[in-house]
Amino acid sequence: MMDAHAVTRIGSQDKDLQELFCDYVPHVFRRADFRRWRAWGQWSDDYHAFALMESGRVVANTSVMRMRLVLEGREVTGYQLGAVGCLPSHRGRGLARVVMNAALDACGDVPVLLFANPSVRQFYPRFGFQPQMQTLFATPYDAVPAGPPAPTLSLENAAVRAGLATLSSEGRPSTERFGARGYATVASWPVANGFARPLRQLGTDAWAFAGVEGETLYLDDVFAREPFDLRAWIPRLIDRPIRSIRFGFTPERYWPEAVTAGEDMEADLFVRNFHPSQEAHRFPVMAHT
Ligand SMILES: CC(C)(COP(=O)(O)OP(=O)(O)OC[C@H]1O[C@@H](n2cnc3c(N)ncnc32)[C@H](O)[C@@H]1OP(=O)(O)O)[C@@H](O)C(=O)NCCC(=O)NCCS
Repeated sequence: MMDAHAVTRIGSQDKDLQELFCDYVPHVFRRADFRRWRAWGQWSDDYHAFALMESGRVVANTSVMRMRLVLEGREVTGYQLGAVGCLPSHRGRGLARVVMNAALDACGDVPVLLFANPSVRQFYPRFGFQPQMQTLFATPYDAVPAGPPAPTLSLENAAVRAGLATLSSEGRPSTERFGARGYATVASWPVANGFARPLRQLGTDAWAFAGVEGETLYLDDVFAREPFDLRAWIPRLIDRPIRSIRFGFTPERYWPEAVTAGEDMEADLFVRNFHPSQEAHRFPVMAHT
């Protein structure tokens, strides 16, 4: 029966099929929801879901996000897979394999990456993926709040969404080692799901996802049109004293003296058709689908 399964490719214009995709997602990923993200107009031409349909619903899916990857300073088109799953009732019949193969055929020979979870570490190597270590970066840094707090921006606001898209697309990537540009519709996903740290405005053309926990400032990502003095903004990003900063990306340009702070055991990055930098690196957390 397997060859009776035709894969449906759901794109930005396929509104009815998008609804079916949105119905499928919470059956497989408890905390994930694509509805708000979609309502924000974030399902762009860069995003396609490769879905198997049965009785008018999606039963298995692999999604593909086109990415402008930055590999050692070089921009390369690649893809990031996400929402890979099969309804619990339909597992073990080769359905995930069918959608994975359809998605990978569409990607071709270019770099493909994905962030997995511990339950599927043995699944992706079946499709030509290799595990790739991600490193955590941190720096000791004593600072106290000072000056007017950096304004918080809301992606509920369409103008802010457009601004993030422009900065991400035209500005400097937060890291050149292994990063990306133009991923505003990726960064908006955790925001739409309520998982992201606040987006703060540092001057006119520099925005950062950042927040304090305990005595640590978590600087998840920085979107900036021009080089700027990130350090000068730290007192305006914190509402209490901090003793350290942790980075959601390789801070080789923003904080070159940051040190590696172990392996990111939660990343579960898998790569196909390429090898990221040999140097320690962390693909920006806001660019994970
Ligand atoms: C992982 C998942 C997508 C597999 O779906 P499925 O339809 O049961 O998978 P398939 O039947 O197509 O399996 C294809 C092959 O992978 C193997 N496989 C399936 N799940 C696996 C797993 N978790 N780990 C290792 N191998 C696995 C199967 O044994 C099969 O191998 P075979 O061809 O040699 O028999 C499904 O279990 C799921 O939705 N899990 C929860 C969501 C999730 O964690 N997704 C990954 C997000 S990164």
